[in-house]
Amino acid sequence: MKVARTEQAWRDVFAAADGSASELGQMVNTLGAIGGGANGEVSRLAFMPAERAAHALVGGWLAEAGFEVRADTFGNLIAERPGTVAGLAPIAFGSHADSVPNGGRFDGAAGVLVATRLAQLVGKANLRTQHPLRIVVFANEEGARFGEPCLGSKAVIGDLTPEAAEVLVDADGVTLAAAMVALGFDSARIPEARWRRDEIDVFFEVHVEQGRVLETRGLDIGLVDVVAGSARIRVELRGRSDHSGGTPMSLRRDALVGAAEVILLIERQARRYPSGSVGTVGRLQVHPNNITTVPGAVTLYLDIRDVDALRREESVVLAREGVEQIARGRGLAAEFTVIAHTPPVHLWAWAREFMKAACRQVAVGWRVMPSGAGHDAQILAHTFPTAMLFVPSRDGASHVPAEWTDPSQLAVGLHVLARAIALADSR
Ligand code: HGY
Ligand code: MN
Ligand code: MN
Repeated sequence: MKVARTEQAWRDVFAAADGSASELGQMVNTLGAIGGGANGEVSRLAFMPAERAAHALVGGWLAEAGFEVRADTFGNLIAERPGTVAGLAPIAFGSHADSVPNGGRFDGAAGVLVATRLAQLVGKANLRTQHPLRIVVFANEEGARFGEPCLGSKAVIGDLTPEAAEVLVDADGVTLAAAMVALGFDSARIPEARWRRDEIDVFFEVHVEQGRVLETRGLDIGLVDVVAGSARIRVELRGRSDHSGGTPMSLRRDALVGAAEVILLIERQARRYPSGSVGTVGRLQVHPNNITTVPGAVTLYLDIRDVDALRREESVVLAREGVEQIARGRGLAAEFTVIAHTPPVHLWAWAREFMKAACRQVAVGWRVMPSGAGHDAQILAHTFPTAMLFVPSRDGASHVPAEWTDPSQLAVGLHVLARAIALADSR
């Protein structure tokens, strides 16, 4: 009788998932308004009021759905619902609610809202799973403010220390620790956020693809096998600021021209391989940044990524050697500092089997694929069985206001996630 009731409850959840596009669309707009701007952009930087407001909004929805909601000692949002079988570890799922500056409304938010909608449907169907359910909204996934990404997921695997919180600092000189204190958290208590190895049965993340593969192939779901590793590097070049009229070309030590060579080097390097290797210089500061002064100092930030660990290490070494060679050739001083280093990670194949089986049950178009973007799942996978699914991104746009995934596509991701959880729960 109990099994029949549970099976019926899951059928109710699957049917309601298919009918959730309009609710998901409304939730996207409601969450997107937090830190939202006039042109559809979203800015919800880590440990700023907008990120906290996003956590509060989602926490309220989860509490209404019958989950026990709390913030852990780092500032991740944790929502739990007990299972019916004693001793089983929770099935966990979720994503992040912070964004890059002027980002989109779907990066991270899609996975958070799909998880939230599933919680609502589970509550409505009065579904009692055997395993407890744990929904997590990670803080500080993007790393846009303090430089290092995935701090919330690093906290739960025990890879973030109170000492690191004193060293990580934003552009205004505010440390992560100080930003935490300003919001009522205590960085000394970060270790208490750690999840024990036996504390999680499996972790699932739903995320927008942030690429073009699914859309160009007309597929609904991507199942991630490997998440690219990234090295975030600060390069400081110092030459001499001079009058742009009175200084002959032969006497200049122009840091910006040196930076231009570095930018082309990073692009050239990444193009050496047909796929899986990318290099970007997305941020650059020029001093004194005056039309009539030869720039004497430039700081640029490199983002070198690869799904292959050795290739990525090689790219970082070659970048360092290239910067030093360019600096020598132009009489510049150079500093090359790796500010964040996240290795590529293969997600757990057996955990992916639940998602594969779910895709077959829902009869959607799917493929296994790599992720060029970094994710909390790549951190969790160091410790816990982890699988990740993508839903399509229109025109591959992400980290920009034009980011878009149709709510009907979110509903497909929701249905597949629900079935994957049902399969994991029934074993
Ligand atoms: O930058 C990234 O890879 C991700 O969006 N955090
Ligand atoms: Mn993301
Ligand atoms: Mn992102």
